Amino acid sequence: MSQIDLFTQFRLDGKVAIITGASSGLGARFARVLHEAGAKVALTARRVDRLQQLAAELPGALAVQCDVSQSDQREAMVKQVAEHFGGVDILINNAGIGITKGIESETLEDFREVLEVNTTAVWHLSKLCGEHMVPKKSGVIVNVASILGLVASTPIKQANYNASKGAVITLTRELGVQWARKGIRVNALCPGWFLTEMTAGMESDEGAQRLIQQNSPMPRMGEEHELDGAILFMASDASSFMTGQCIIIDGGWTAR
Ligand SMILES: NC(=O)c1ccc[n+]([C@@H]2O[C@H](COP(=O)([O-])OP(=O)(O)OC[C@H]3O[C@@H](n4cnc5c(N)ncnc54)[C@H](OP(=O)(O)O)[C@@H]3O)[C@@H](O)[C@H]2O)c1
Repeated sequence: MSQIDLFTQFRLDGKVAIITGASSGLGARFARVLHEAGAKVALTARRVDRLQQLAAELPGALAVQCDVSQSDQREAMVKQVAEHFGGVDILINNAGIGITKGIESETLEDFREVLEVNTTAVWHLSKLCGEHMVPKKSGVIVNVASILGLVASTPIKQANYNASKGAVITLTRELGVQWARKGIRVNALCPGWFLTEMTAGMESDEGAQRLIQQNSPMPRMGEEHELDGAILFMASDASSFMTGQCIIIDGGWTAR
């Protein structure tokens, strides 16, 4: 019989995990995965009705409305979660938006809006949760970046999104290194194309499907469950020697 206790390191029993953007898509799935692994999950987003529906399915879960573009709401959300559960152990910075238009039509307001949600909020929430993690010398942050933080997205044009996700990847490296001796690990997940509200319509759009067929070595979009292993790995002790890194799950898109 094997002496290796393989699966215990993936357990999250008793850990408190905040998942931003948990009202739909990947974030809702991540919340289910972490809860299944034993975490006490705090679900946050703007659509509180969606959060409450999900919380009703996940015993012990807390739904907290928070617009991550607002600094006061970020502060209030982390405070509420920490008071409710007695701390914060895991932060999944997943909330994200993108505005698809060419650079000539993109406005400064578009760029600022996307950067605030996708990058500034990630920086700020990491800082706020860090206040609970540093004293314990323990914590995990997973930033949901994108392959579009690594490579260009044109013909789908969204310079705002690419810039924001590239910044998240670099922020991940820097925080991973700054906190490496303080017991906090910071890593990023870079998904390729997955069907969610963000990419709604791509599955039936001929041009989008042609793009995927021609450019993705695995010629299809990903399915939500295909990120389960990576998010759990990064959130748990299974990745205890990993920090400042990215995991890319994209059907081979960036390997070409
Ligand atoms: N789908 C893909 O192909 C793909 C690929 C690579 C990376 N990603 C990244 O994965 C993450 C999740 O996206 P998704 O694909 O699951 O899309 P989604 O279904 O549109 O989910 C986006 C989530 O972000 C939340 N959100 C947006 N603006 C917010 C704000 N101001 N405050 C709080 N929450 C906000 C939304 O909740 P509310 O509207 O209720 O606030 C929603 O829960 C994003 O960071 C995205 O960039 C997605």
